[in-house]
Amino acid sequence: MAKLEGKVAFVTGGASGIGAASAAALAREGAAVVVSDLDGVRAEVLAETLAGAGALAMALTQDVTDETGWAKAVEAVEQRFGRLDIMVANAGVAVMGLVTEMTLAAWRRQTAINLDGVFLSAKYAIPAMRRAGSGSIIIMSSVAAFRGSAAFSGYCASKAGAHIFAKALALECAGIGDKVRVNSIHPGVIDTPLWDTIPLGNAGQQPRRIDANRMGHNDVPMGRAGTADEVAEAVVFLASDASSFMTGAELVLDGGMTAGAMPRKK
Ligand SMILES: NC(=O)c1ccc[n+]([C@@H]2O[C@H](COP(=O)([O-])OP(=O)(O)OC[C@H]3O[C@@H](n4cnc5c(N)ncnc54)[C@H](O)[C@@H]3O)[C@@H](O)[C@H]2O)c1
Repeated sequence: MAKLEGKVAFVTGGASGIGAASAAALAREGAAVVVSDLDGVRAEVLAETLAGAGALAMALTQDVTDETGWAKAVEAVEQRFGRLDIMVANAGVAVMGLVTEMTLAAWRRQTAINLDGVFLSAKYAIPAMRRAGSGSIIIMSSVAAFRGSAAFSGYCASKAGAHIFAKALALECAGIGDKVRVNSIHPGVIDTPLWDTIPLGNAGQQPRRIDANRMGHNDVPMGRAGTADEVAEAVVFLASDASSFMTGAELVLDGGMTAGAMPRKK
């Protein structure tokens, strides 16, 4: 029996990488899925693929930092599917740059997507979840919430912010007794298109590519990068009743990166 039959899930940044794998996994478990992304064309392609495989799916072109768009998006979802049960606040960017060189505009844009976007996802999902009777909010943080990474200070700060935001919000919802659970996921190095074009936060610099698989081999105790599908399994778990007693908690999927130091590989 599918774990999410009758549920409606909304995935931000759903057109690529972890978001796309999550949307597909949620659909496989019977949820109706809203694929929302800044890249509306790719969101549409994925929604059509999911619908072609028999799922209920719709695409939305959305910038998670735009508050007006949020009100319209949730309204459109309730009109189409009648309810909202699951919010995967996944959209994010990783901007690279030394603090002394990063422009304030680049810092603010990253924080707006990674942190303001998470706030708005929750702000607009919760009233709909209360109307539905319960809900699960899944916030895509990172191991960057637990450990610093040189030249990724803004990313680390935004992901740590999203992490503790999830805990504070979980307590808020539990206190109200609205049956809305809030948890965060902390992937390590995952092989997705995110690494193909890392934007640089200093004015005039071209994006850089980082080889996620090489980094996985060198820096991850398990000796490899993770896959988006592995993260999607955690999303399904947190979305479903299998995690019914979990709120304000975190799931770490990092091949051992945050477990401690490893002897250097030869
Ligand atoms: N890939 C990793 O190694 C890794 C590790 C830890 C955490 N994460 C986090 O996982 C999430 C997904 O990352 P990914 O690796 O799948 O990246 P990705 O680049 O493959 O996908 C991110 C998606 O977010 C969308 N997006 C960007 N800005 C947006 C905005 N303003 N509004 C709406 N959508 C927007 C992009 O269009 C893209 O489709 C991010 O929050 C990222 O920080 C990734």
